[in-house]
Amino acid sequence: MGVRSLASSILLHFLLLLLLYEFGVVRAAQCSTKEQPLVRNLNELPQSNYGREGLSHMTIAGALSHGMKEVEVWLQTIAPGSKTPIHRHSCEEVFVVLKGRGTLFLASSSNKCPGKPQLFPISSNTTFSIPVNDPHQVVNTDGNEDLQMLVVISRPPVKVFIYDDWFMPHIAARLKYPYYWDAECFDSPKDEL
Ligand SMILES: *[C@@H]1O[C@H](CO)[C@@H](O)[C@H](O)[C@H]1NC(C)=O
Repeated sequence: MGVRSLASSILLHFLLLLLLYEFGVVRAAQCSTKEQPLVRNLNELPQSNYGREGLSHMTIAGALSHGMKEVEVWLQTIAPGSKTPIHRHSCEEVFVVLKGRGTLFLASSSNKCPGKPQLFPISSNTTFSIPVNDPHQVVNTDGNEDLQMLVVISRPPVKVFIYDDWFMPHIAARLKYPYYWDAECFDSPKDEL
């Protein structure tokens, strides 16, 4: 190996280490309660579809990202025609619809499978809560307008069980944990209370 290629290989390793370090620091800042100001501007919080088409999710206050212990607050926007998966979780969940309109599909946890869900129209300025463990799905049924909701859950981080359809047995629903938006901060060390 010549001096030139040795030098460029050292430089490359150095740059790689720098990149890894920067990534770690940025990630730690996003996943730590200590680095964040008390009052935060919603427009500056991370927002992403986390790989789910037609969704925009923002964790306003989260267990993994902000050290919340009892509740977690999300701002979610579902594009026209898009929907959440059919899913359940063993925590309380409260929705406040800020914009748009859609349909809540809600089934029961008491039979072997969810079965045919009940339909509830939802629209801006309505609120509803999902009974613990009841399978549900929120669909934006409007052709033009986004459906935007403020969502509060208890017992974070959420453990979601996903159904393929309403007739899949409860025991066959697949656990998705950490959930899409929790994956990023799942392994970072947590601040002490
Ligand atoms: C929702 O409530 C706000 C505040 O009271 C009001 O300005 C808005 O018109 C309401 N929207 C609908 C669709 O009722």
